[in-house]
Amino acid sequence: MAASARAPVDASRTVQGVSVAAASRSPLTEFLTPPEIARLTGLSVRTISRRLVQAGVAPVGRAHRVPHYRRSDVTDLLIPLRSAQPYRVAIAHRKGGQGKTTTTFYLARELAAKGQKVVLRDTDSQQSLTDILDGLGARRDEFGRRAFLKRLVLVPDGAPLPFRPDVELIDTPPALDDALPGIRRADGVIIPMLIEYQGVMALRWMLEYLRATRDLQPSLCVVGVQPTRLFPRRQIQARFMKEVQELCVAYEVPLLNPIVEDASVLSFAMRGHLWRPLAQRVLDLARAQAGAGAPEAEDAE
Ligand SMILES: Nc1ncnc2c1ncn2[C@@H]1O[C@H](COP(=O)(O)OP(=O)(O)O)[C@@H](O)[C@H]1O
Ligand SMILES: [Mg+2]
Repeated sequence: MAASARAPVDASRTVQGVSVAAASRSPLTEFLTPPEIARLTGLSVRTISRRLVQAGVAPVGRAHRVPHYRRSDVTDLLIPLRSAQPYRVAIAHRKGGQGKTTTTFYLARELAAKGQKVVLRDTDSQQSLTDILDGLGARRDEFGRRAFLKRLVLVPDGAPLPFRPDVELIDTPPALDDALPGIRRADGVIIPMLIEYQGVMALRWMLEYLRATRDLQPSLCVVGVQPTRLFPRRQIQARFMKEVQELCVAYEVPLLNPIVEDASVLSFAMRGHLWRPLAQRVLDLARAQAGAGAPEAEDAE
């Protein structure tokens, strides 16, 4: 259904002093209600409301008791990635215990909350990610797929895909040789790391390796170095952060905002908001690759 067929806007509605009717005269309506977002995306109002809460998007105001959202705040829900291929990201580092599996899980949750269809790959023979999903009650089917959410499914290699994914996240084992197949099939790589002496040493080697092998996979994008488990008041970590910063400048890779140590991460019970900025970055890169970055005309359903 074309957007022009949507219900006429109540001329008396104002949100934050702006007339909704006036805003609606522009080609892109500035404010949207959950039913309007539902019509544009084909999702139910309930799903939309839940996603908006999960994504931490607050309404700008209410008119006639109906919450109104700024269109620019909900574009993640409105624009699916239109690409035949998913954007593939390997989460890799040549060291264990750096937060690879944790990052894979929470990043996936954040991407799913942003409306993306996400496939997880567990290429670590220890199967930590698979175990975590099993422990959290993911539904297992005859192909060994684990459905954690409707849009978030772990798929073993060789099993059919449950849907056409927007993003594929590949959790990798700590030994670099074993992680290589995962990195080689990815468009981008995220390097989670602990802010400590060994973490910095391992990062240097990892970046050196990626630089030395750049010719093998020139299109591989380093999404970023993702510091994890930062204790903001720990002085020693400030020193290591400086070294990480210098390394990232020297190797010309982005350094992402650190993720702090948080007790609720340990139980895998949180929703994963600490990984929200990383999810946004992955989404931006995926959109750029899919060529969906250009402003769109009014969506058709
Ligand atoms: N931000 C965080 N706060 C608290 N614990 C964390 C955080 N990130 C990771 N962890 C914990 O660190 C440990 C190692 O993380 P994991 O993701 O398994 O590392 P890897 O996959 O690199 O071996 C896990 O016990 C995980 O719960
Ligand atoms: Mg792991």
